[in-house]
Amino acid sequence: MKQALEPTADAAWVLNDDGCDPLRESDRETRFTVSNGFLGARASHAVNRSFRRLVSPNSYVAGLFDTPDTDRPVPERVFAPDWLDVRIGLAGGPLVHHFGQGPSHPLTLDMRRGLALAECRLVEGTAVSVRLGLLRFVSLSRRSLGLQLLHLEVDQGETDITLEASFEGGDHDLISERLEIEFGLWRTHHSGKRLAMAAAVALRIDGQDLPPTALAPLKWSWTWRARPGQVVCLERIVTVARSDGPDQDPGAIVRKELSDARRSGWRSVMEQHETAWANRWSCSDVEVEGDAAAQKAIRFAVYHLNSAANPDDPRVSIGARGLTGADYRGHVFWDTEIFLLPFYILTWPEAARSLLMYRFHTLDGARAKAADRGWRGAFYAWESTDTGLEATPEQAVGPDRQIIDILTGAQEQHISADVAYAVWQYWQATGDDEFLVAAGAEILLETGRFWASRAQPEADGLHHIRGVIGPDEYHEAIDDNAFTNVMARWNIRRALEVAAMLGERWPAEWTILCRRLDLDEADLGHWTGVAETLATGLDPDTGLFEQFTGYFDLEDVDLAAYSGRSVPMDVVLGRERTQRSQVIKQADVVALLALLPEEFAGETGATNFRYYEPRCGHGSSLSTAMHGLVAARLGDVEMALDYFHKTAAIDLADTKVAIGGGIHIAAQGGLWLMTVFGFAGLSLRSDGIGLAPHLPASWLSLGFGLQWRGRSLAVRIDQTNQKLDVSLESGQPMIITIYGQPHSLSLDQALVTDIKRPRQSDDRSR
Ligand code: BGC
Repeated sequence: MKQALEPTADAAWVLNDDGCDPLRESDRETRFTVSNGFLGARASHAVNRSFRRLVSPNSYVAGLFDTPDTDRPVPERVFAPDWLDVRIGLAGGPLVHHFGQGPSHPLTLDMRRGLALAECRLVEGTAVSVRLGLLRFVSLSRRSLGLQLLHLEVDQGETDITLEASFEGGDHDLISERLEIEFGLWRTHHSGKRLAMAAAVALRIDGQDLPPTALAPLKWSWTWRARPGQVVCLERIVTVARSDGPDQDPGAIVRKELSDARRSGWRSVMEQHETAWANRWSCSDVEVEGDAAAQKAIRFAVYHLNSAANPDDPRVSIGARGLTGADYRGHVFWDTEIFLLPFYILTWPEAARSLLMYRFHTLDGARAKAADRGWRGAFYAWESTDTGLEATPEQAVGPDRQIIDILTGAQEQHISADVAYAVWQYWQATGDDEFLVAAGAEILLETGRFWASRAQPEADGLHHIRGVIGPDEYHEAIDDNAFTNVMARWNIRRALEVAAMLGERWPAEWTILCRRLDLDEADLGHWTGVAETLATGLDPDTGLFEQFTGYFDLEDVDLAAYSGRSVPMDVVLGRERTQRSQVIKQADVVALLALLPEEFAGETGATNFRYYEPRCGHGSSLSTAMHGLVAARLGDVEMALDYFHKTAAIDLADTKVAIGGGIHIAAQGGLWLMTVFGFAGLSLRSDGIGLAPHLPASWLSLGFGLQWRGRSLAVRIDQTNQKLDVSLESGQPMIITIYGQPHSLSLDQALVTDIKRPRQSDDRSR
C-alpha cells in the first residue's frame, strides 16, 4: 500500500500545501477536492482530532437536490453522508493532532492520477508517535465508487490504539430509512430522492487481517496493542447511488457495485481509475514551457474541469462551484455553457453532449418560465437545479449587509441565448447530427421563439428588449443590453438556420417537430423580421456598442484611482452610486466580443475593448478570463498574460478570495479558453478550425489536443523556433486555417508553418 501513497514525482503534476493554518483550512479543503461529476469529497481532515462529533459536511452527490420547507424556499444541493471519517485514540482518550506543530499536515493533489494524499504525525507526549499516510479518490472509471486508504506506522510507544472508521452526517440534510453494518439508505425531506451507500472496510496489521472489535451500522472499530515498527493498513471502498423517483432502487445498485469492487480489490479499482485519468489527460492536457506558474495553473484547471463532468448522467449539470463546495447551493448558471462547454466540446464531446441533454431535459421548466411571464418558447432558469424551474433566491444580503432583492432570475435573460450558443458550438465542432435532430434543434427553436416574443416593436421601427440585466449585474432593469440583444439576434438566426436545414435534410423529423411545437411558416417569417430590426446599440460612426440605453450618460469613474482596493467596486462606491456609474461588474460588451467576434467589423473589436476594459471592476470571477481571451486575440499578449495570472490566482493564491465555498469552475474553464481561444487563437469555422497563435514572450511553447468532428488533433506552438505544428492523430483529412490561410491536414502529413511574432508593447495604442 505504501507505494500507492507515493505521489507522481514530476512537480508539474502535483499541487502541494504544507501549511497548517486553521484560518485557511476551508480553502485547502476546496482546492484539494476530489470529484468525478457524480461524487465530490472535499479535502477535510480524514483523521479527526477527537471522538467528539465535529462534523463539517464535505461530501456531495450530483443532483441530490431538496427544497426546504420555509418561506420563499430555494432548492439546494444537500450534503451526503461523509464516508471518509476516521478517528484514532489511545486507551485514555483521543490521540490529538495539534495545529501549530509546524508543517504537520501536508496535502498533495496528484493531478495526474486524480487523487488526494495527506500525511500527518500523531503524538502523545513522548510516549506515543505514529505516522499516517492517507489517500482518497472518487473513481473516474466507475463514478459511483470511492476509495480511501490509510497507512499507519508506529514509530514509538507500546499502547492500546483504537481506530474507528465511520460514516458521519447522514442526518445533516437527509432522513435515514435503513442503516446496516455495510449499507445505508436515506431520503430527502421533500424532493422524493433517495441515496444509497455501501461500504467494504478492512484493516490489516503487519499483513494480517484484524476483524473489527466493535460494529454498528456504518461504523467499524478496532483496538489493538501497538508496538514500534508496526504497520497498519485500512482500506475502505464505498459505492453510492442516487435515485430521483420511487421506481428506482439505489440500494440494489450499490450492493451490486460493492460486491464487484470487493471482488476486484482496491488495487484494480485504483488501476482502472488511473487508466481513466490517463485517457482524459491524453485528450485534454495543456503543456506550457517557460512559465511554471502558468503550467501549474492550467493543469489545475484541467484537473478540476475533468473532475466536474459526468458523461453518463444527462439529468445533471455542473454547478457554479462544481462538486467542491456549497456556495450557490449547487445551482447551474450560464457559467456551464459559456465558460465550461468549449473545453468539453473540444476535448470530451461525450461530456458536452450530456451537459446539453440536461438543458434538453429542463426545456419544460424553461417553457413554463416563459409562459408564466407571458412570453413564448424557452426562457431558461438563471439558476437551475434538477427541474429546470427558476431557483434564484428572491432576496439576499447585499455587500452593505442590507437585504436586497435579487432580480437576476427574472431579468438575466441572456441565459436562453447562452444555452443556444453552446448547442450550436457543440454541433459545429462534433457534427453530431443525431443530437441536433433529437434535441439541439428543439432548444434552438424554442429559445429563438422566446426572443421573437420577448422583443417588441416600437415607434422607431425597431424591436427592443427592455427591462433586463446583462452579464454586468451592477445595472438592473436596463433596456437594450448590447450583449443580450446581439446574442438574441444570433439565436434567432441560428433557429432559422436549423429550421431550414431540418426542412431540407430531415423533412420527416421537421414535420413532426413543427407539429409538436406548433410552429409554422408565419412564425419563421415573424422571427426573421425581429432579427432584422432588433436594436443593438451599435453607433456606426464610432463602432462602439453602447452597453445599454443611457450607459454613455452615466458617471465615468476612473477605476485606476481605486487600484489598491481589496473589495469590489460596488462595496467601495455603494450600490446606488455604482448603478449610476459606468463601472461594470464583469465583461459585458467584452463578453460579446469574446463570443461573437464576427459582430465587430474591422477595428471595432479593439475600439470596444479599449473603451470598456478600463471601466470594468472585475467584481465576478468570470470577468478576467473574458478580458484575457479578448486581449490575446487582439494581439495584446502581455495584458492577456496578466489576466491569465489574475484568473489563476482566484483559486490558487492565498492572498485574496476565500475559496471555502468551492472552486470557481468558470474561472478554471476561462483559463483554458484564454489559452486555446486566446493565445492559440482557435476559431471554429464551418470548413474546419482556425488558429492564429500569439504567445506571451515567456512561453517557449504551448501544446494541447483537440477533438474535431471525430478527429483527434495535436497542436504545438513553438515560440523558440517560431513554428506551429498541427498533426492529425486520427480521422479524415481536414482544412486548418492559419492566420486566415487554408491548409490541408491529413494523417500522413502534419502541418508545420511559421507563426507571427506578437506585437510589441509600443505597437499598442491603448
Ligand atoms: C456572476 C454571474 C455568475 C454567477 C455564478 C455571479 O457573481 O455575476 O455571471 O453566473 O456569479 O458564478
